[in-house]
Amino acid sequence: MRRIGVLTSGGDAPGMNAAIRAVVRNAVYRNLEVCGIQRGYQGLINGDMMPLGNRSVGNIVHLGGTILETTRCPDFKIKEIRAKAIEATRKAGIEAMVVIGGDGTLRGATVLAQESGLPVVGVTSTIDNDVYGTDYTIGFDTAINTAVEYIDKIRDTARSHDRLFFVEVMGRTRGFIALQSGIAAGAEAIMIPEVPENIDALCADLERTFKGGKRSAIIIVAEAGEPGSTFRIARAVKEKGGLDSRVCVLGHVQRGGSPTARDRILASRLGAAAVDALVEGRWNVSVGEVKGDIAYTPLEDTWSRRKELDGDLIRLMKILAR
Ligand code: ADP
Ligand code: F6P
Repeated sequence: MRRIGVLTSGGDAPGMNAAIRAVVRNAVYRNLEVCGIQRGYQGLINGDMMPLGNRSVGNIVHLGGTILETTRCPDFKIKEIRAKAIEATRKAGIEAMVVIGGDGTLRGATVLAQESGLPVVGVTSTIDNDVYGTDYTIGFDTAINTAVEYIDKIRDTARSHDRLFFVEVMGRTRGFIALQSGIAAGAEAIMIPEVPENIDALCADLERTFKGGKRSAIIIVAEAGEPGSTFRIARAVKEKGGLDSRVCVLGHVQRGGSPTARDRILASRLGAAAVDALVEGRWNVSVGEVKGDIAYTPLEDTWSRRKELDGDLIRLMKILAR
């Protein structure tokens, strides 16, 4: 193996740059050449590539986003178009791939490995933390810290005005961001897709909360595959419980910003581990971190198996919100 390719794909996540840097620097350390593929699978199809050396990845460890850029590329789901991408890797002399992204990206990596025969290693990176085979994905820690920073600001105004606020956070169809940011920000309730929505119970809880002496409350709502659905929930609470509220959708601020130290360290470990895995012949796996150790998960398991939320945190939330 002399030359490896690296790309970032799907939603960007803070720490992707630190992961690219670790891939490049460990590859150079192991006498490999690195080809950076721009804009994810779209760049692979178009053959948009550039050589990356130690100096190309200087001064990026602290930057959000991804210097390689990223896309959502529906065309990569089409076999004939993937054949073009595979041809482009051959032309570029790429003999193995590191693919950095979330479950969709790793799904693409699975078929890429099957159809090209190339050794492929995934690096789990998405703010959603919804990938099986790692306790935390790169970008999640930064995203929840950003969410908490903004929820704290909402708390200031909620408290001043004695108001009820609904704050919607990202997470696609899962509640990882909502649960952890909600606990950290001391939310009065957290609505996640893993627990069935019950507006009557929510209204009853809020009534008890206000009767108990609280005059403001913050409810964290996971977007649950339907961004903006929080407006509907706020309307339902007004209709059923007679409670006025304000809604704040945090949106894409959660994807940006400088990665936390924790994300930078995770990204550095996983990026380097991906290259180690290629060199050591652990192919067609994704690298993650489980209980502090590097873990290797078959690519297919990362997206076909379901990662569970921490049930203890769900129970704790109910106790702490009183
Ligand atoms: P993420 O990786 O953050 O979950 P997406 O779900 O958008 O983001 O997936 C990123 C990209 O992975 C998609 O735009 C597509 O190019 C590729 N991909 C996703 N699912 C498949 C699939 N079933 N087959 C091939 N490629 C896929
Ligand atoms: O997967 C990351 C994520 O930010 C999700 O939390 C969110 O649902 C989605 O991407 C938004 O995607 P886009 O940037 O394409 O609107």
